[in-house]
Amino acid sequence: MDTREKINGKTRVCGLMGYPVAHTLSPIIHNTLAEKMNLNMVYVPFPVAPEQVNHAIAGAYALDLLGLNVTVPHKSAVIAGLKEMDELAAKIGAVNTLVRVPGGYKGYNTDMTGLYRALLSEQIQIREKQIILLGAGGAARAVAFMCAYYGARKVYLLNRTLDKAQRVAEEVNSALSVDCIVPMRMEDYKNLPEEKYLAIQGTSVGLYPNVEDAVIRDMAFYERIHTGYDLIYKPAKTMFMKYVEQAGGIACNGLKMLLYQGIDAFELWNQCKVPEEIAMEIYQRLEKETRIHE
Ligand code: ATR
Repeated sequence: MDTREKINGKTRVCGLMGYPVAHTLSPIIHNTLAEKMNLNMVYVPFPVAPEQVNHAIAGAYALDLLGLNVTVPHKSAVIAGLKEMDELAAKIGAVNTLVRVPGGYKGYNTDMTGLYRALLSEQIQIREKQIILLGAGGAARAVAFMCAYYGARKVYLLNRTLDKAQRVAEEVNSALSVDCIVPMRMEDYKNLPEEKYLAIQGTSVGLYPNVEDAVIRDMAFYERIHTGYDLIYKPAKTMFMKYVEQAGGIACNGLKMLLYQGIDAFELWNQCKVPEEIAMEIYQRLEKETRIHE
């Protein structure tokens, strides 16, 4: 049955607030989840210009919206308009999920918890591990928090611009009272202690349509990697992933992170637990969808 035929007087509304939002896969995640979990909820995109962020949050509350996801460029800007903050999201300083509470919304960061869940589902451990993180932009910053929060031994944060890596390392180390994030220049991977690493690719290099690009092309780098996790999921196999595999490592793309950030948000809004079989069904839908658009 068409989802629209099920909408009635009791349907709850959630959505994605960003600018732009037309490319999003989140409606597929949430509307399929609502159907499979038998919940009367719909999820729609809301393009919100930067100067409208506070009005949008107040309007969403007035319209009784159950929750919102937040994407670029509003992940920090929304914080000022929230009633409450989850402790971890407050430390990260970025929010991608708003949950309705009395008098407003509470901000969470399910990008981070979703990535952790995605890694666990691939049997990738963080605790006590030595990790290489490529990039120091918005996405990589959340990964640095995730790694430090879940007990990584060391995170070598490699970035083209060293001072950005230094800033992120300082922020994370001081917010979580750790000293595990070590900032480095991208080319300094040659000086890393001889070990096998989990590497998380958090730069925008290799993203569609620049599918032939990789931030590091030296095979000597990839030979140090046992597992490579790219946050990019379009293309489904990035150059970074191809190099990891060529060097004998295991490579994953970021589609499961997208999936689980959505599932974490859905569970917060509906106070439910999504069974793994349903998660995998949604994952297959997402895989199909990304292949169509490639
Ligand atoms: P996002 O929100 O996707 O993280 P971002 O905040 O603009 O986007 O960050 C992009 C990241 O990709 C940064 O780490 C950036 O490196 P710089 O801090 O040096 O700019 C990295 N990046 C983008 N293009 C790159 C390139 N051609 N070579 C190396 N790193 C690049």
